[in-house]
Amino acid sequence: MLIRYKKNHEKIAMGLLSFMPNVKDLKQLQETIKAYEQNNDWQLFLWKEEDIIGVAGIELINDHKAVLKHLSVNPSHRQQGLGKRIVEALEEMFSDQYDLEPSKYTKAFFQKCQQEECE
Ligand SMILES: CC(C)(COP(=O)(O)OP(=O)(O)OC[C@H]1O[C@@H](n2cnc3c(N)ncnc32)[C@H](O)[C@@H]1OP(=O)(O)O)[C@@H](O)C(=O)NCCC(=O)NCCS
Repeated sequence: MLIRYKKNHEKIAMGLLSFMPNVKDLKQLQETIKAYEQNNDWQLFLWKEEDIIGVAGIELINDHKAVLKHLSVNPSHRQQGLGKRIVEALEEMFSDQYDLEPSKYTKAFFQKCQQEECE
């Protein structure tokens, strides 16, 4: 299930975010997590089963548009449909008010999830 990020999740969230291709070094990782902690329009979620095994970050652009900026799954849990389940859970969570769109970095996977929904 998706849970909202809290400060005590910092280490696990940073570990998962570090797999993002646009997070290049520790400084950028720290700036990214700080942005999620300090900016109300940046919302970070964790996917929790027994452990926390995924992270997803959203930026609310305006009253109708939200962008999936970050998405990462623990390497030991990939290729089992979890990334897709996280995207679906976010779309459901935001669908009342927002159109969820991908960023440059999440676009290819986001589109793959949407193609599979149509099959
Ligand atoms: C991208 C990511 C979240 C997918 O998580 P996952 O739990 O393995 O995803 P799923 O099991 O739901 O889907 C796996 C499918 O997505 C494909 N896929 C993985 N990364 C992809 C990407 N960046 N673009 C397009 N397709 C991708 C896999 O090849 C696989 O395809 P298949 O089913 O045809 O074999 C995971 O690979 C990850 O954390 N990557 C590192 C972070 C990253 O690169 N994030 C940016 C992209 S969102």
